[in-house]
Formats: sequence, C-alpha cells, structure tokens
Amino acid sequence: KKIALLHGPNLDRLGKREPEIYGRATLADLETALRAEFGTAAELHFFQSNHEGALIDEIARLAEAKFDALVLNAGALTHTSVALRDAVAGSGLKTVEVHISNVYRREEFRHHSYLSGVSVGVVAGLGFEGYHAALRFLLPA
Ligand code: DQA
Repeated sequence: KKIALLHGPNLDRLGKREPEIYGRATLADLETALRAEFGTAAELHFFQSNHEGALIDEIARLAEAKFDALVLNAGALTHTSVALRDAVAGSGLKTVEVHISNVYRREEFRHHSYLSGVSVGVVAGLGFEGYHAALRFLLPA
C-alpha cells in the first residue's frame, strides 16, 4: 500500500517548537520510527509544507498517483482551511486526521476542524503514538 503522511505549517519545527506541548522529538525522528515499524508493510511518503497551496497541490498529486491513504496533520490549517478540506474530499483518499496534542483541552479555536468531516477517523492527544495508531488502522495485520 502507498500511504502519505502530510504535515502542515510549523510542524517542520517539531522538537524546537513549544516542546511542553509537542515534545522534543523531531519530524525526522517520527519518520525514522514509522519507517522502522511500517516500512516493509507499506510505501511511506512524507511531505511537509508551511504553505496551504503546496499541501493542496500535493494532495492532488497523491490522488493522481493512486495513493491508498493519507495521514494528515495540517497544523493550524485544520481550524481554518475550507480549501484543504475540499482538496481532501476531492482526492478520494482514505484520510486519518492526526494531532499530536489534545486539541480539545486547548483553546476554543482548536476545537473545530474542517478536516474531521472528510476523514475516516481522528486521533488527538496521543503524541507520536497517534501516527502509529493511524498506520496500524490503515495497515491491518
Ligand atoms: C496540531 C494542533 C493544531 O491546533 C496546531 O495548530 C498545530 C499542531 C497538533 O498536532 O497537535 O500546529 O495539529
């Protein structure tokens, strides 16, 4: 299976950015851990951008390239972007929304997601374990 993991704004600074919320591990650490667990079961493709349009272009590309699923942490665009939601909806990709932090115990503006309504499931607050859970769900043994 071909599975893409997409990260949105500021997630390139994982490990440095608000470590009390997001932890000290980096996006590269996440990629290493996920490749170690799932690298033989799936073809994993990682992409991060701070730009909404670049994420939308990438989702369209994944759809054309016949990817099987998408694990999406869109960062703050989760709470703002109808365009990203439309990209996911139009892609036909089976999508799992992931948040490292528990967005429901944080500010009110993080409680609404434009992406949940076009995702098969949502994981929030489990740290990096949320990505492992998402991939286990998408790649049943
Ligand atoms: C986040 C939660 C968002 O509210 C925030 O804007 C992020 C990260 C998370 O993984 O917990 O950038 O998606």
